[in-house]
Amino acid sequence: MTHSWSSSSGGKDVHLDWSPGGGRGALAAAIRTAIRDSRWSPGDVVPSTRALAQDLGIARGTVTRVYADLVAEGYLRTSQGAPTRVATAGDRPEAAARRGSQATVPEPRWNLMPGRPSLSMFPAAEWLAAMRRVLQRLPAEVFGYQRPGGVRALHESLARYLARSRGVLADPDRIVVCAGFTQCTALLSQVLLARGEHEIAFEDPSLPQFRRIAEAAGLRLTGVPVDGQGLRVSALDSPAVVVTAAHQYPLGVPLAPSRRTELTRWASRTGGLVVEDDYDGEFRFDHQQVGALQALAPERVVYAGTASKTLAPGLRLAWLVLPRALVPEVHAAVAASGAQPPALDQLVLAELLDSGAYDRHVRRCRAEYRVRRERLLAALPVAPQGLAAGLQLLVRVPDEAAALAACRRASIGLEGLGGHWVSRMDRWGGLVIGYAAPQKHAFAGALEALTGALRDVLP
Ligand SMILES: Cc1ncc(COP(=O)(O)O)c(C=O)c1O
Repeated sequence: MTHSWSSSSGGKDVHLDWSPGGGRGALAAAIRTAIRDSRWSPGDVVPSTRALAQDLGIARGTVTRVYADLVAEGYLRTSQGAPTRVATAGDRPEAAARRGSQATVPEPRWNLMPGRPSLSMFPAAEWLAAMRRVLQRLPAEVFGYQRPGGVRALHESLARYLARSRGVLADPDRIVVCAGFTQCTALLSQVLLARGEHEIAFEDPSLPQFRRIAEAAGLRLTGVPVDGQGLRVSALDSPAVVVTAAHQYPLGVPLAPSRRTELTRWASRTGGLVVEDDYDGEFRFDHQQVGALQALAPERVVYAGTASKTLAPGLRLAWLVLPRALVPEVHAAVAASGAQPPALDQLVLAELLDSGAYDRHVRRCRAEYRVRRERLLAALPVAPQGLAAGLQLLVRVPDEAAALAACRRASIGLEGLGGHWVSRMDRWGGLVIGYAAPQKHAFAGALEALTGALRDVLP
C-alpha cells in the first residue's frame, strides 16, 4: 500500500512511495527516491519527525533514525537550531563521487581549444533586441510546428548574406538549416548511403569528430593527403569528399586556385560530390578574400556554413546550400531525423543578418582576433602556420607527446595534431592552438602560460 503525506512546512504536498510493512529501510528508500526525483527539492525544509510520524502512523523514533541515516548519507542537512533540510545537489553522495572522479582530470585553467570563439563576445544585447522585434512581429507563428529544414525567413536572409559575403550561389529553396555541421554530416552520410554510395573521403589531416559521424552512419572512410596547396585532388578516389577549402583544418592552407578547378573538374567528370565545410570563412586576416568553392560548381558542391564560430556553438545553427538534385533527399533525411534548431532562434538569426547586426558583430570579433593573433605571433618562439585565417594556428613540434605533457602541466587546454591524421604514414607532430577561445581578460595569462610551456619543448 502506498502512503501520501502532506507537508505543513512550506504548504507543499509531497508524495512518498512507502508501505508500512517495509520498516526503516523502506522509509529511507522512499525518501531517497523522492529527493532524487526532485519531489523533495534541494534546500526544502523536510517535515518534522513528529509530523511525519503522525502522518504515516509510525513511531517518531523510527523517523528520527531514518533522518539521521539520510544526514550521514548526505541526502539531508541539519544545523543547530535550524530545521532539517534536503541537501543541495553538491552535498549529495553522487556529486561527491563525481567530484572525486573529476579530480583526476581537472579542467585546464587556460582555454586555448581550437575552433572555439570567445563566448564572452556573444552579442547578447543585439540577440535580445532582435528577439524582441521577432516576437513583436510574429507572435504566434514562432511557436507552431515548423517545416523540417528551417524557416523560410532564414533561408531568404542566408541566401542574401552568403551571396554578398562568401560569393555563394544561394537560392533560398536550396537551403536547409541544421543543428550544426555535426547534423549536416550525419544527414549527408545518410543521403549518400541511400544513393548506394558506401565511402566518403576526408582530408588527411582533418577533424576526427566528423569522420566518426560518417563512419557511425555506415560509410567507409578514406583520407586524402593535404600539401601546401590543400587537398591533393589527384589522390581522390571516392564518390564524395569533405573539404575545408577556404582554410584547411587543421593545417591552415587555402585550396590553391588550380586545385579548386581540378576539384570541380573531378566532380563533373566522376559525378562525385564535394562537401565544402566553410567553417570559418568569415575570419580572414590577410586581405586575400577566398570565396566559396561552391560558386564554381553549384550542382556538384554542397556548401556548409555554421554560426558556431561567428556567434556561439551552443546555438547549434548551421546551413547547407544544396545542388538541386539533392534537395528532396536531404529534406527527407531531415524530416526522418526529427531534429531541427528552434524556430525562434532561426528567426532571431535572420533578423541579425537582415539588420546588419551580424556583420557588425563579425567585424568586432575579427578585430579582436586580429589583435590576439598578432600578440601570439610576437610571443611564440617559432613561426606557426595557418595564420592567414580562422580562430587557430598550428605550431610544429619535434615531440608532440612531450609538448602536450608540458601544456598539461601548465594547465593549458589545446589539441595535438596526432588525432587528426587518417593514415599512419607521413605523420608529424604539432599543437593546434585556439587563440579566440579565452575570455578577453584571460588572454594575456593564457599566452604567458603557453609561451612558458613551449620554451621547454621547442628547440
Ligand atoms: C573543421 C570544422 N568544421 C565545422 C565545424 C562546425 O561544427 P558545428 O557547426 O557542428 O559546431 C567546426 C567546429 O569546431 C570545425 O572545426
